[in-house]
Amino acid sequence: MIEPSPVVETRRLALRAPRPQDVSRLASLANDPDIARMTLRMPHPYSIDDAETFVLGVAGQDPARAATFLIEHEDHGPVGVIGLFEDSDPAPEVGYWIGRPFWGRGYATEALQGSLVWAAKRWKRRALVAGHFTDNPASGRVLEKAGFLYTGEVRRGFSKARSDEAQTRRMVWLA
Ligand SMILES: CC(C)(COP(=O)(O)OP(=O)(O)OC[C@H]1O[C@@H](n2cnc3c(N)ncnc32)[C@H](O)[C@@H]1OP(=O)(O)O)[C@@H](O)C(=O)NCCC(=O)NCCS
Repeated sequence: MIEPSPVVETRRLALRAPRPQDVSRLASLANDPDIARMTLRMPHPYSIDDAETFVLGVAGQDPARAATFLIEHEDHGPVGVIGLFEDSDPAPEVGYWIGRPFWGRGYATEALQGSLVWAAKRWKRRALVAGHFTDNPASGRVLEKAGFLYTGEVRRGFSKARSDEAQTRRMVWLA
């Protein structure tokens, strides 16, 4: 099924497929150690090549197993990324980042809420999981505001940018 782009619109944001024209903006926002170290997979430094690989990777995703959106603000343009993907858990996992100039304005929460509506209505998923490192309470707050609950499980995760493992607090959301 070919989805229209943007796939999701919220009050201030559109979630849409990233395009080749987004590469330089994505690289400049993502090249931030305080973003990469809060994720499992983002490298640091984050180069133009990394952003190109990301955009190509999203274009090649199996839409039954993954959906990754660029988060575009109506005035500021691209501000971050949110992705849902099947991993080894029983429900798809959600992950996201927002560029530092745009932190603290509610964009992560708004994008997450929009993607939850999409996941339930269009992707027909009844549950999603997420995790945040124990030293990242801001992300825990975003997930709580969007309706995720702590499962009580704390799991070790390997962060590429940290080159180390860190404790991840696991959360779940039910549609
Ligand atoms: C975490 C992140 C996505 C938040 O994005 P954002 O757009 O600033 O988030 P929002 O504005 O929607 O909400 C942030 C919430 O965290 C709270 N917060 C911020 N710093 C905090 C801290 N140190 N401790 C506790 N809460 C904190 C804010 O007060 C806000 O909650 P509130 O509305 O109740 O006041 C962003 O900082 C980011 O991309 N960080 C790096 C990558 C990352 O962590 N990704 C998630 C991996 S699990």
